[in-house]
Amino acid sequence: MSADAGPPGTPLTRRRFLWLGAAGAAVVGGGAAGTRLLLSGSPIGPGDPAVAATEAARSTTGRVVSRELRAAPATVDLGGRVVDTWAYGDSVPGPQIRVNAGDELRVRLVNDLPDSTTVHWHGLSLRNDMDGVPGLTMPSVGAAESFDYSFVVPDPGTFWFHPHFAVQLDTGLQAALIVEDPDEQADYDVEAVLVLDDWTDGLGDSPAEIFAGMRENGMDMGGMDMAEMDMAEVSAAEPLGADTGDVVYPAHLINGRLPSAPVTVASQAGRRIRFRLINAGSDTAYRFAIGGHRLTVTHADGFPVLPVEVDTLLLGMGERYDVVVTAGDGAFPMVAVPEGKDDPSALAVLRTSSGPTPAASARPGELDGRMLTYADLVPVDQVALPAREPDRQLDLLLEMADGGRRWLINGAAYGDHEPLTVEAGERVRLAMSNHSMMFHPMHVHGHTFAAGPRGVRKDTINVLPMRSLSVDLHADNPGQWLVHCHNVYHGELGMMTVLSYVA
Ligand code: C2O
Ligand code: CU
Repeated sequence: MSADAGPPGTPLTRRRFLWLGAAGAAVVGGGAAGTRLLLSGSPIGPGDPAVAATEAARSTTGRVVSRELRAAPATVDLGGRVVDTWAYGDSVPGPQIRVNAGDELRVRLVNDLPDSTTVHWHGLSLRNDMDGVPGLTMPSVGAAESFDYSFVVPDPGTFWFHPHFAVQLDTGLQAALIVEDPDEQADYDVEAVLVLDDWTDGLGDSPAEIFAGMRENGMDMGGMDMAEMDMAEVSAAEPLGADTGDVVYPAHLINGRLPSAPVTVASQAGRRIRFRLINAGSDTAYRFAIGGHRLTVTHADGFPVLPVEVDTLLLGMGERYDVVVTAGDGAFPMVAVPEGKDDPSALAVLRTSSGPTPAASARPGELDGRMLTYADLVPVDQVALPAREPDRQLDLLLEMADGGRRWLINGAAYGDHEPLTVEAGERVRLAMSNHSMMFHPMHVHGHTFAAGPRGVRKDTINVLPMRSLSVDLHADNPGQWLVHCHNVYHGELGMMTVLSYVA
């Protein structure tokens, strides 16, 4: 990866052009004039007083939590395999950050990488100038530079952070951000965070090499034919369709460990354990289950739902679920199977007594049991988005181009995109139509939308192949917000656009 510039031909130059500096002076160009009705106002940039005013209005605890986060090349032991990668604080995943809702989080990012980087705080409805999108909300942080992030953390829940620069997400740069709710009526005894991740760095091709190969050769599929049309079929066996990812990974990890040397969560039988599951993968959805246990889902993307009991659930890239289990007596496999891939699974162990450690290849029957659907998820009253007709509908057409060398939203790759304009205070509907054979975990920055038939609050949602899905949000966080596919390769090949507040 060359420092800062990215591979030749990336939209980075154009992205820099799009940078809305503190003065908010630059112009969002947009592509060819669209057919959509455009708002005529000028964009509210990250330095706009409206952003600071929104931040000042957030309720705070008055407490400040300060951390230093060093991004640097690191040599890490995945459990028998030692690899060179990039990491925060020399570990994979990086050091967890834990705060209370309403705290001010101050993080000094020290960039000791041989490349530029940024940190994005995934899922937080934070102030726009701290969102970490290079060229849109801040300049990238160059090698040997540092940047001070500082913002009020608005909502409790399970979040995470990662770079928003090139395909750095597919290295070891990722960590959990846990926001506690001081008032929560907690119905569990202990908790554990499980970070699921697809791993190639140091075992197979580097993420930069994989990305370069895709830009060059696409998906190697040739033209679309009838066989490929079939891949769009979703079924109970293939809930995301047949083609779920582009990358074959040598390994999948839970909390940075290979299944041959898994992380163990030790507890006592009868204890209620809250697991916070985070899919930090770049190109892999996971099907998760715990042998011998049912999962009571309590939170989706950090926000509370009416508890629902399932055997298994799917996490697209960027999605999180909190589940509570009552621990049985023994040693149980906690398995994350790469959905739709033949790669080896990821494994962790829940242990409450002695007994053999589950095999690396353990495949509990729960994986084929009752699977969570979005229709199962009902937000608790306090976080439900009040019913309201949308003031504005914005259409997003998702498609592949050039045999997979580019992925587009509304016919354009990021940099040539026409921003999706909104005004503060509006109820906005994002109507996404997937015209491709792959699912896309679509993520909206700075907002938690209402989705699914029952309005679950989420920030990332799987849009199935050849299907449509709408989400509604309240436009209450002015700024320029990325909307993109959380398959990092799709995103970097263009599948990103901007939700642009104008005034
Ligand atoms: Cu996990 Cu654009 O983010
Ligand atoms: Cu995608």
